Amino acid sequence: MKIAAIVGSNRKESYNLKLTKFLQKRYANRFELEIVSITELPFYNQDIENTPPESVTQFKAKIKAADAVLWVVPEYNGTVPGIMVNAIDWLSRVDRVMIGKPSWIIGASMGNLGTVKAQAHLRDILFASGVNSPLLPSNEVYVGAVHEKIDAQGNLIHEPTVQFLDSVVNNFIAWYDSFHAAISATK
Ligand code: FNR
Repeated sequence: MKIAAIVGSNRKESYNLKLTKFLQKRYANRFELEIVSITELPFYNQDIENTPPESVTQFKAKIKAADAVLWVVPEYNGTVPGIMVNAIDWLSRVDRVMIGKPSWIIGASMGNLGTVKAQAHLRDILFASGVNSPLLPSNEVYVGAVHEKIDAQGNLIHEPTVQFLDSVVNNFIAWYDSFHAAISATK
């Protein structure tokens, strides 16, 4: 399975990016996780949605080619960072490449609540008609106090979180497989 990871932070030392890279390594034998950058996307503009710049075309093509999308969301001011909303706006228009594509969500913050509000908003957005992405039920991953759980080398050193991620990954793969079996049965 090929999963595209969209990370909603553009800072070099992003904990959410480090968490994604940790997942990339730890579950390399379960799926291929490609981090698809959204930092160079221009602001969405309806005037150019049918003739977008190359960065948008390439971004959409990578998402279209993926079997599923992992959204790694920081929390800004109690919601989804604008950079991630911007990426979703592009994906929701013209060829609407998220329709029917399975998604799951994780997120990390330095606060204790671990992006709970941002994830609630993101769930709503992904279900919205323009995006229409089937979402892994439950299995909500809120990594709070992330600065105490990731070491200088980018390793997730908080064992309960690692074990929880192991179970969520298992659940995601089982859900993804059953989802596809259900779709195939209707064809
Ligand atoms: C934050 N941060 C933050 N944290 C949180 O738990 N809830 C929030 O609403 C916010 N709001 C917020 C707004 C802005 C503009 C910034 C820059 C930061 C803190 C945030 O969790 C922290 O900076 C994380 O480290 C951001 O994620 P990355 O960049 O490390 O992936």
